[in-house]
Amino acid sequence: MNNILLGVTGGIAAYKAVDLARRLTLLGFRVKVVMSENATRLVGPATFRAVTSNPVALSLFADGGAPMEHIDLAREADVVVVAPATANIIAKMAHGLADDLLSTTLLATRAPVVLAPAMNREMWSHPATVSNLETLRERGVRVVGPESGSLACGEEGPGRMSEPETIVEEVLAALGTNSLLAGVPVLVTAGGTREAIDPVRFIGNRSSGKMGYAMAAVAARMGARVQLVSGPSALECPGGVERVTVETAEEMREEVVERAPACRAVVMAAAVADFMPVKAHGEKIKRGSAEKLVLELVRTPDILAELSGIKPQGQVLVGFAAETGELLQRARAKMREKKVDMLVANDVTHPGSGFDSDYNRAVLLFADGREVELDLMPKAELAAVIWREVSALLDISGR
Ligand SMILES: Cc1cc2nc3c(=O)[nH]c(=O)nc-3n(C[C@H](O)[C@H](O)[C@H](O)COP(=O)(O)O)c2cc1C
Repeated sequence: MNNILLGVTGGIAAYKAVDLARRLTLLGFRVKVVMSENATRLVGPATFRAVTSNPVALSLFADGGAPMEHIDLAREADVVVVAPATANIIAKMAHGLADDLLSTTLLATRAPVVLAPAMNREMWSHPATVSNLETLRERGVRVVGPESGSLACGEEGPGRMSEPETIVEEVLAALGTNSLLAGVPVLVTAGGTREAIDPVRFIGNRSSGKMGYAMAAVAARMGARVQLVSGPSALECPGGVERVTVETAEEMREEVVERAPACRAVVMAAAVADFMPVKAHGEKIKRGSAEKLVLELVRTPDILAELSGIKPQGQVLVGFAAETGELLQRARAKMREKKVDMLVANDVTHPGSGFDSDYNRAVLLFADGREVELDLMPKAELAAVIWREVSALLDISGR
């Protein structure tokens, strides 16, 4: 489990750091919060304690804490994120000041640091802040945002803290360089398939490919060697990913069955058609005067079942189940039937999630009977949760 140190300083956006802490905790990180004294005037430490289930560190000389807490915090952090980062903490970091617990910890840590600045636009554009940030960037500090928009001070302009989900992305990117899946060959399928009725028509589905593409992008960021077998999709191929595009379920089967045995993890996120026309007409079907057109359909190959049959020892096989009701019962049945290591079940009719949405709400089911119900979250975050679980299963199988 990775440790994230979240530094919260005295900006109005401190309330948004609560959501950030919650999201990072849900992703399975151990989140420890250090607040500046001024931050505690804006949000109470008890809120962070409740969200992270960890004590909040406030002072260098607190009774009861470890005697050298700043050193412990600095050493155990895999990433330090400061959100919101005030002009003050940015200046202190740039100059190496260490006059409270957070600034001292920041000076003592060698973990990657992510800053999410938030301030009034004049403070943001002040030459002192500009030069301090330049110094920090040169030292490898990652800076996310700020965004432009209406500011708490009533002005318009740059200075709004980035949204928590954008900051999570940056934290994951910073962690990605710690290579949870370094060098691991993985295969991901994405998008829907198309089964031809005639040269111009097909049977398709509403899958956008977003979930599968997020799985591929996040795996690449975690250091995996990623092959993505995708149905037709408008999405760009994520950086560092080798993409093969297919159209039909049969084409997907061929590519996947050939590539899967050499992979340590296979994630079937594609929405593969269950049925296809018995025959595709060679010519466009004319409307003519017919009142009805009957299409005869036949089952497509069951790729997941085939993969579980040819699965090499130690490979982790993950299926997706897009359901529209009685989610868990159906997912449990699918889990038994397909013999996968993990099944990601999501209700695609749920408002705000599922097909074409950037968000998803899922339940993870494991071969050992464990079930993890997750909140609604961006697909990239869900992808990170799934890969962390896959990585744990790979460790169990002796990576
Ligand atoms: C209500 C309120 C909101 C503030 N918001 C910000 C802010 O968004 N960004 C900033 O850099 N400073 C802001 N300040 C000023 C900082 O709190 C001040 O510079 C303080 O010394 C920062 O201390 P810290 O960095 O140790 O938390 C705000 C002050 C008040 C009273």
